Amino acid sequence: MGKMIKLLLLMALIFAVSACEESNSQNGNDGKAVPAPKAAEKETDKIKIGFSMDTLLEERWLKDRDLFKEAVESLGAEVEILAANGDDAVQIEQAETLISQGVDLLVVVPHNAEAMAAIVKKAHLAGIKVIAYDRLVKNSEIDLYVSFDNEKVGEMQANAITKLVPKGKYVYIGGAETDNNAHLFKRGVFKVLQPLIDKGDITVVYDQWSKDWTPANALVNMTAALKANQNKIDAVIAANDATAGGVIQALAAQGLAGKIPVAGQDAELAGVQRIVQGTQIMTVYKPIKALTEKAAELAVMMAKGDEVKADRKINNGKIEVQSVLLSPIAVNKRNIDQTIIADGFHSKEEVYKVVEK
Ligand code: GAL
Repeated sequence: MGKMIKLLLLMALIFAVSACEESNSQNGNDGKAVPAPKAAEKETDKIKIGFSMDTLLEERWLKDRDLFKEAVESLGAEVEILAANGDDAVQIEQAETLISQGVDLLVVVPHNAEAMAAIVKKAHLAGIKVIAYDRLVKNSEIDLYVSFDNEKVGEMQANAITKLVPKGKYVYIGGAETDNNAHLFKRGVFKVLQPLIDKGDITVVYDQWSKDWTPANALVNMTAALKANQNKIDAVIAANDATAGGVIQALAAQGLAGKIPVAGQDAELAGVQRIVQGTQIMTVYKPIKALTEKAAELAVMMAKGDEVKADRKINNGKIEVQSVLLSPIAVNKRNIDQTIIADGFHSKEEVYKVVEK
């Protein structure tokens, strides 16, 4: 009986070895380990990031899109980018598409800080982490927030304008109420204004949000502010350069452009040109390249499963979100060259073109 078992085992072994040799020779391999098909393996291994954007209507978001793509690709990963034209339903649908395509990580610029919480949930169910880019996603378990110090942006605007106009009637033209940043910018502004309001030096005579950040809505707001105050306004803080554009258009219609100082944000080319022309007194420059590089680096790390430790935590209504906040830079006529132009954000030629005309 024992002999019988040994014989059977031996036969099985011989059969297995010959079957293996047969298969190796079919592969054109003489028993050596089969080398991995490198190109194919690299393709399937490549990290894929999904980038869901609110809009591409403003100049800054085109820079964000292009520089983020460049940064992700320089890390050997790839990125699929979709922009929603300011429509919540479209953005949710696009983010769902990215999730179902099996991206390794999702980066989101939410049009609506609350609405995108649903996407964070869906992504997590699919095992995909989500980074909030520039704008926070509220009331969600977002994995990371990468932005600028947005409260500081508002403080910089208010510091610059109160230096110039320490007393008088102020107008605040806010951004989109649905964007958490609009609230942070405003908080920063009022942090500086409040003591002056309490002292009776400053009165805020008009304070409204501008839906979707559009210049057209800011124009309507500023026109109403001028009308309600018989044009007697001493200073305007607009939440960004797009809204500042609408404000300055309303002022121009009353022959007041350049006479009432206006602060903006983003260092958009049109905003910087207005500073040179004298219709806007300052803007806040946020180095987008640095933001895209930081976000890309962290996105690829997280997609690979590496742990990311951020130095700050920000409450989003649900959790303390790990946050990385970069520093904004206040820009006026005097430091355009050393900041925006030195960084190549805009060329000297473009910035000063308007005054040469
Ligand atoms: C904010 C952003 C600003 C500005 C604005 C309008 O969230 O931080 O830089 O571009 O949106 O798009």
